Amino acid sequence: MADKLIIFDTTLRDGEQSPGASMTRDEKLRIARQLERLKVDVIEAGFAASSNGDFEAVQAIANAIKDSTVCSLSRANDRDIARAAEAIQGAASGRIHTFIATSPLHMEKKLRMTPEQVLEQAKQSVRFARNLCGDIEFSPEDGYRSELDFLCRVLEAVIAEGATTINVPDTVGYAVPELYGNFIKTLRERIPNSDKAIWSVHCHNDLGMAVANSLAGVKLGGARQIECTINGLGERAGNCSLEEVVMAVKTRKDYFGLELGIDTQHIVAASRMVSQTTGFVVQPNKAVVGANAFAHASGIHQDGVLKARDTYEIMRAEDVGWSANKIVLGKLSGRNAFKQRLQELGVAMESEADINAAFARFKELADRKSEIFDEDIVALVSDDGVPGAQESYGFVSLSQHSETGERPHAAVVFTVDGREMRGESDGNGPVDASLKAIESHVKSGAEMVLYSVNAISGSTESQGEVTVRLQNAGRVVNGVGADPDIVVASAKAYLSALNKLQSKADRVAAQG
Ligand code: KIV
Ligand code: ZN
Repeated sequence: MADKLIIFDTTLRDGEQSPGASMTRDEKLRIARQLERLKVDVIEAGFAASSNGDFEAVQAIANAIKDSTVCSLSRANDRDIARAAEAIQGAASGRIHTFIATSPLHMEKKLRMTPEQVLEQAKQSVRFARNLCGDIEFSPEDGYRSELDFLCRVLEAVIAEGATTINVPDTVGYAVPELYGNFIKTLRERIPNSDKAIWSVHCHNDLGMAVANSLAGVKLGGARQIECTINGLGERAGNCSLEEVVMAVKTRKDYFGLELGIDTQHIVAASRMVSQTTGFVVQPNKAVVGANAFAHASGIHQDGVLKARDTYEIMRAEDVGWSANKIVLGKLSGRNAFKQRLQELGVAMESEADINAAFARFKELADRKSEIFDEDIVALVSDDGVPGAQESYGFVSLSQHSETGERPHAAVVFTVDGREMRGESDGNGPVDASLKAIESHVKSGAEMVLYSVNAISGSTESQGEVTVRLQNAGRVVNGVGADPDIVVASAKAYLSALNKLQSKADRVAAQG
């Protein structure tokens, strides 16, 4: 029996640290359910001590997920660790992941601690955590740029205190595959009790090598856990991408010789869900989940694939969840069909009232759009006004007038804490006029740093999905809105971003 490779997904923690990628509790819960369907071994659900919102999200995920281990990050101090333990209390299987920086640069400049103080704090924290939970992961932040002798002392000590997983982050994406793989190997060889822990890799993608480095950590270093995110989401250039490492290990089993627990058929749905929730669009040529990943445009390739598929294809599109765009529902579909499709898509609604509200939105959409695709349904429930979400701003209606040679004008009706408001404005175009109409009342003062429109299912009949990224007082958020009318989608996206700006106001930025 081959060794098992543990897949640790950190989309909801490290992925969410990407500027603009913050998610609400309900959005995180929906993604966690999709990760469970994907059968990831560990879900890092957040950083419980960083804010009340994060705590609640980790707690909700811990209570809901049964088949994956649910983990909370925590700095190496008693307060953070106790908060993490409290958040994961309801989990069928829970883990505390504690970390402290060990590189000379981080210890001196960021922590202002001596190496001996860091060593003591690491030991004490793991001891404290081990009394609260049997599954403890320890990470020496910026581990790859740490001094080998010191790192060996820290890791040996935390294993002796009961750490069950040792994760070696390349926090700044500086590693190259061979060196990183050998670094893990050396640590495992030099640390006398290294066999008492599972070794894990955590690579950032600053030089585009996160996947290659992680695989080298496994192949050369003997690591048996990879930390990764859906679509490679994460700070700066992102993290190691889950779909790429998983498909590499699966497709090249001849080389890696490792077992995976992942149900790869749920990969594309997970990718879409994360992209639609965060507004981070997947590039068309992205491996595995990009729209072109299995498209053959050149005549020679098409000819080859028609004669024998494996002439140009090393994976089957169906194995990662690509299917022909199916018309799943329409105007005449009933509530039961809608409810069943939600379940198949992994969207869990908390109550019958939530399902009724979503069904009403579906009917409204079906009145305007004859063919409803899976993407439309995911967008419908990802859209602003998700049932159960506590949000200040809500879209009501919009009218706008634009004509060649005239300056466009828009009037938008929206709610602020349940109270209806109507804003009007001119603008350079109908979208500009609509957003100015909202801003004329809200006066958020936020700066728009990104605006993008994407056709959800490819044609002009499709819904437009708009992403708006706003920046205010050092905070960056993405709002996403979908509608067959892109001006309406833009207004929804703007209101969604305003909601996120508000809910993020009290958040403490997560470290690491
Ligand atoms: O990149 C990093 O060092 C981290 C740690 C907190 C694991 O994300
Ligand atoms: Zn990281």
